[in-house]
Amino acid sequence: MNPVEKPRKILITSALPYANGPIHLGHMVEYIQTDIWARFQRLRGNSCIFAWADDAHGTPIMLRAQQEGIEPQELIDKMKQEHERDFNDFLISYDNFHTTHSEENKYFSETIYLAAKAKGNIATKTIKQAYDPEANMFLPDRFIKGECPKCGTPDQYGDNCESCGATYSTTEVVNPYSVVTGATPIEKDSEHYFFKINDYADFLKEWVNSGSVQKEIANKMNEWLEDGLNDWDISRDAPYWGFKIPGTEDKYFYVWLDAPIGYIASFKNYCDRDDNDIDFDEYWSAERNQNNETELYHFIGKDIAYFHTLFWPAVLKSADFRLPTAVFCHGFLNVNGQKMSKSRGTFIQARVFLDHLPAEPLRYYYAAKLSNTVDDIDLNLKDFQLRINSDLVGKVVNIASRCAGFISKKFDEKLSATLADEALYQQFIDASDSIAQAYEDRRYSKAMREIMALADLANQYVDEKQPWVLAKDETRQQEVQDICSLGINMFRAIITYLKPVLPELAAKSEDFLNAGELSWNDIATPLLSSEIKKFKPLMTRIEEDKVDAMLEANKLLLAEAATLQAKTNTNNTDKDTDTKMSDASDTTNEQDPISPTIEFDDFAKIDLRVVKILKAEHVEGADKLLQLTLDLGEGESKGQRNVFAGIKSAYEPAELEGKLTVMVANLAPRKMRFGMSEGMVLAAGPGGKDIFVLNPDEGALPGMRVK
Ligand code: 2FM
Ligand code: ZN
Repeated sequence: MNPVEKPRKILITSALPYANGPIHLGHMVEYIQTDIWARFQRLRGNSCIFAWADDAHGTPIMLRAQQEGIEPQELIDKMKQEHERDFNDFLISYDNFHTTHSEENKYFSETIYLAAKAKGNIATKTIKQAYDPEANMFLPDRFIKGECPKCGTPDQYGDNCESCGATYSTTEVVNPYSVVTGATPIEKDSEHYFFKINDYADFLKEWVNSGSVQKEIANKMNEWLEDGLNDWDISRDAPYWGFKIPGTEDKYFYVWLDAPIGYIASFKNYCDRDDNDIDFDEYWSAERNQNNETELYHFIGKDIAYFHTLFWPAVLKSADFRLPTAVFCHGFLNVNGQKMSKSRGTFIQARVFLDHLPAEPLRYYYAAKLSNTVDDIDLNLKDFQLRINSDLVGKVVNIASRCAGFISKKFDEKLSATLADEALYQQFIDASDSIAQAYEDRRYSKAMREIMALADLANQYVDEKQPWVLAKDETRQQEVQDICSLGINMFRAIITYLKPVLPELAAKSEDFLNAGELSWNDIATPLLSSEIKKFKPLMTRIEEDKVDAMLEANKLLLAEAATLQAKTNTNNTDKDTDTKMSDASDTTNEQDPISPTIEFDDFAKIDLRVVKILKAEHVEGADKLLQLTLDLGEGESKGQRNVFAGIKSAYEPAELEGKLTVMVANLAPRKMRFGMSEGMVLAAGPGGKDIFVLNPDEGALPGMRVK
């Protein structure tokens, strides 16, 4: 940045992760992309506030908390902690991470809704919707399964068939059942609240084509705008985990209404902290921002462009809030050339990655792949390993390690007073504008290519000059110092350019260079006659066994999760897909995964026993559980067990008493909200109403081992 330019005031956000699942490497593409941009802006002297939150509302979160026997608040608190730990360890330099289940968000959701209502942009309509008569709740499409009306494949979601690819409406599904209880859904009327987005159709047609949205996204939105938009249903019926709509008794804001408002709420929460004096209105009031004094950018995945480039600007406009300066969409993450997949074990959790590998290599690899288009990027794990070893260890760090030893040993750690080859160093200075522009435009792969070309130049120079040969000649010592000093200055420029991507490497280099913080403008002023510190290794190679171990650990984790899911008979959705949304690596179109194989030894650890159900009772407050008292017979593990089993959808308690089932007898007792569960009963069947246990006349005796 030219020093006379006024620093920009920028606010940026990443899409808010759902508070019911762990962060995976697909999410990390976006967070790393956002973080690199934030760090770049700050390095250039601009103010860049990165404020975001967990997306903490909606049916999936409510149901998941129920399954775990905890309150939603407890679930979202736990997830927030886990998420933040992952972000910090991936060196994401956000300023504030809040939650959409907050006072601020409640306030802004209500304010925005009431403003839209006052403008006449809210309508009410009675609509018919699928309803689970046992759970007493309306069901989003994702919570209805059944046979595909086209090909007959069972257990397909209510909106599309994973087998033949057909899409249809939930009313067409054959033999539909609720994934919550297994009951057959009925249709029920309900009054809903709609945001009349067509009131903003003309405004949107202009805004979408104003340069605030990438071309390819604008084209898609133009198609939708041409086809005409439907009013947007912003309400959900109780029971729902969210904010109640003002003036109603049992209607809640749909999660996608209050989620983006969470950007505003998190920023407000940040402004209210003691450690800054940021003026909220300067960033969010339309009136205060007529001349674009502040800038607002949302980084998102292409799948949620619809929400961010149509609904969101219209809602903001309606409530007189400022509009985003731009919405930046990115593509999805593939792993080894294919969509991330649970069954292939490539749905890699951030924590598992961090348990085996450092964060910076992934940050660099993503940067080397990212552009400003919505193209998908591929994490090829072999290429990842080779690239880090070649670019960062072999090229960048190598420059310093080849030069530092001579400066330390022969010249008391002192750099030369002049530059040995000014023209060469000038090339490093001249690269500044082009690299800066590439970062600014989110063409990180271009920036990385240009930086690596500089690293090649530096290495070629040292190769040619061969200071290790000159060092043996007493008469040429000055040349050795000059060559190595220039090498270290070239290294310094390269690390400065890489600082937004590799903040830890930059910090270690700052320590080694011993001349304060690396800043973009200082590249033009090389270090002369200054003292460096003793060189310590700055980065180590990535070994293949570490990558393999990471993948293995991830497969195990996925297998455990799949088993748990099967046992608790829960649905596998974490989204309301009655709207277009998912995170950067959604797998909802993947075939039902077969869990990765387990070794025989793992299987042999499971002690399966036939048990008799002595008593079966309803559990107050639990929708799916029955409390079972089980008799293990007279065998070595004789006695009785208390187990909570999710088979209420299939049986009346009285029907179960006297029947036999199979249980995992050596499962560690688990504390649930309703009491201690001392094992797990197994039942077979497709789920819902069809879960089978044995009849006493089927030849088994309590206590028998199941082989
Ligand atoms: O698709 C998702 O993962 C959403 N949780 C993103 C919300 S972004 C914003 F609108 F809050
Ligand atoms: Zn089908």
